[in-house]
Amino acid sequence: HRHLLGIEQLSAADITAILDLSEDYVALNRRRDKHLDRLRGLTQINLFFEASTRTQASFELAGKRLGADVMNMSVSSSSMRKGETLIDTAVTLNAMHPDLLVVRHGASGAVALLAQKVNCAVLNAGDGRHEHPTQALLDALTIRRHKGRLSRLTVAICGDIANSRVARSNILCLNAMENRVRVIAPPTLLPSGIERFGVEVFTEMEAGLADCDVVMMLRIQNERLEGTALPSRREFFHRYGLTAEKLALARPDAIVMHPGPMNRGVEIDPTVADDIDRSVIQQQVEMGVAVRMAVLDLLARSHGAAA
Ligand code: CP
Repeated sequence: HRHLLGIEQLSAADITAILDLSEDYVALNRRRDKHLDRLRGLTQINLFFEASTRTQASFELAGKRLGADVMNMSVSSSSMRKGETLIDTAVTLNAMHPDLLVVRHGASGAVALLAQKVNCAVLNAGDGRHEHPTQALLDALTIRRHKGRLSRLTVAICGDIANSRVARSNILCLNAMENRVRVIAPPTLLPSGIERFGVEVFTEMEAGLADCDVVMMLRIQNERLEGTALPSRREFFHRYGLTAEKLALARPDAIVMHPGPMNRGVEIDPTVADDIDRSVIQQQVEMGVAVRMAVLDLLARSHGAAA
């Protein structure tokens, strides 16, 4: 592949190959010397038009640990503040000969559009409500490590499905690997036609969590909720917030996931989020660096082969 724009473009074999390579990088990242020269001489630009902690920091560390020259740009410091368009910004950066361009943008499809205008490999770090492929891959690696497999599992994805690129990429990834995927949300946070994605739909946590192997909570996307009729935060927590009582309905060995950043006390009870026997949230972050090293490495290799 030339770019990583979404899970939609990946086969089950592609996903397995990425996760297998990521395992090497998990081991490297736990060493004192975390440095390799795989991307030596290459330039990576991280272009973020939306806020990020995990994704931006882990893409930066991933590139640096592989020896690339990494530059971070965020909208607050770019000339888009002066009215420059996304495409002009992309074409300008392209003229500086980057090899890898990591992009987050608030509009669905913006990263794919940008990929058509540049000569380098483009990695989608989240585009609107569309996809967040490296998040789904790091979630898949976390699940595989805990469950010993990435198939025949029942996974419940809960909360703000309608506005979540994390949900969409995870549904595509988990279905490609032949799992049973459920979504649990109030009707106002379910996109119309979600059944087409091959998921079982629930509007109550109690029914949806029964016998799940994995409980994946989502962040309420406050920045994308304008115009949505929503219950109060308190009422949302009461019905859809993950508490120890609700988690008891899932399998006894079910793991709890959250992509971050968390709204504690809204979609997840802090005691569940911090329960190290059930919550794998910090491990998701660790896997994020390794998965991003793997995709940077693979794209740099295929780009080099094409050049
Ligand atoms: N999960 C995730 O994308 O987090 P950031 O917004 O902090 O990158």
